[in-house]
Amino acid sequence: GLAGLPDRYGRVARDLRVSVTDRCNLRCRYCMPAEGLPWLAKPEMLSDDELVRVVGVFVGLGIRQVRLTGGEPMLRRSLVDVVRRIAALEPRPRIAMTTNGIGLDRLAQPLADAGLDRVNVSLDTIDPKEFADLTRRDRLHDVEAGLKAAATAGLVPVKVNAVAMRGINDDSVADLLQWCLDRGYELRFIEQMPLDAQHGWDASTMVSSQELHERLGERFTLTPLPQADRGSAPAERFLVNGGPQTVGIIASVTDPFCAACDRTRLTADGQVRNCLFSQDETDLRGPLRDGATDEDLARLIQGEMWRKAPGHGIGSDDFVQPDRPMSAIGG
Ligand code: GTP
Ligand code: 5AD
Ligand code: SF4
Repeated sequence: GLAGLPDRYGRVARDLRVSVTDRCNLRCRYCMPAEGLPWLAKPEMLSDDELVRVVGVFVGLGIRQVRLTGGEPMLRRSLVDVVRRIAALEPRPRIAMTTNGIGLDRLAQPLADAGLDRVNVSLDTIDPKEFADLTRRDRLHDVEAGLKAAATAGLVPVKVNAVAMRGINDDSVADLLQWCLDRGYELRFIEQMPLDAQHGWDASTMVSSQELHERLGERFTLTPLPQADRGSAPAERFLVNGGPQTVGIIASVTDPFCAACDRTRLTADGQVRNCLFSQDETDLRGPLRDGATDEDLARLIQGEMWRKAPGHGIGSDDFVQPDRPMSAIGG
């Protein structure tokens, strides 16, 4: 039998994030340059058979939740089929997706039918001008339609992820919260992390959790939920105006959750990463194509996880931004 996925600091990976494509149809400023990135060629990517087999090995190693990410995961044409095949694994993992929402109006129901349980949709502002400025594309209406379809298809709770960027959407965070409350979406704000391909991140302009708290506090009363209920969840959550609805803040930079992290990652080209910020990756694609057994793959995955660092060290002198951007790693 295969043991689980512990690291040397006592954490155990239970949550696998799979980047099913590095491509995207938006160009969010915190992620990519306007011209996009040199995308992976098809032969470099895991095929559906390879991807499902590797996810199966992870499930055998104790993974309980599989999150499909990208790039934009719905740009992988076979996505519905991939979901159906992951849902057929034993024991069946929970299946979630993090998406920009474009095309979700059409795909929410087929994905739900195939076994998708939940979605997190990235939406940083509901102001059309700010949206076009931040994502460099005029697609706000597609995202709104996608969110609606997700709720209708029962992909609940529908969560919305927002990154606040100074001078672009930092003034409208309370509007976004009101908009999400009105529609029953669970909003979480995320501190911007140094993961953009252009290396333009700057600690001094980042909108911090504290600042978000202050800005939201001007319009809403926020009451923290007990820390004890948080587990390995990245967001600190607050009741809004006494509840029952909540807003979350993911303080990845100023209050990292690394000590409770239960994540591992698989890139679209078949590399296992023990952390968003890890400096090393373990290649599974080569061994897979050279005839490795499931046991061989499991040992490679376990080796990668054992090397996981205690924390990302953003802000420390020896911090090095990963050589791959977020869109290639899988947010
Ligand atoms: P839930 O299970 O719905 O809470 O999902 P999630 O919050 O883990 O996933 P999502 O893809 O919505 O990610 C939200 C934010 O958390 C994104 O900005 C991610 O980059 C960030 N995040 C996810 N995983 C990690 C991680 O391992 N380390 C750090 N520092 N941030 C992460
Ligand atoms: N910092 C923080 N969050 C980011 N995301 C993308 N790039 C960054 C970054 N540099 C968000 C996306 C998505 C989630 C997976 O991560 O908006 O919601
Ligand atoms: Fe695309 Fe997500 Fe990057 Fe925005 S953050 S460009 S939606 S991969």
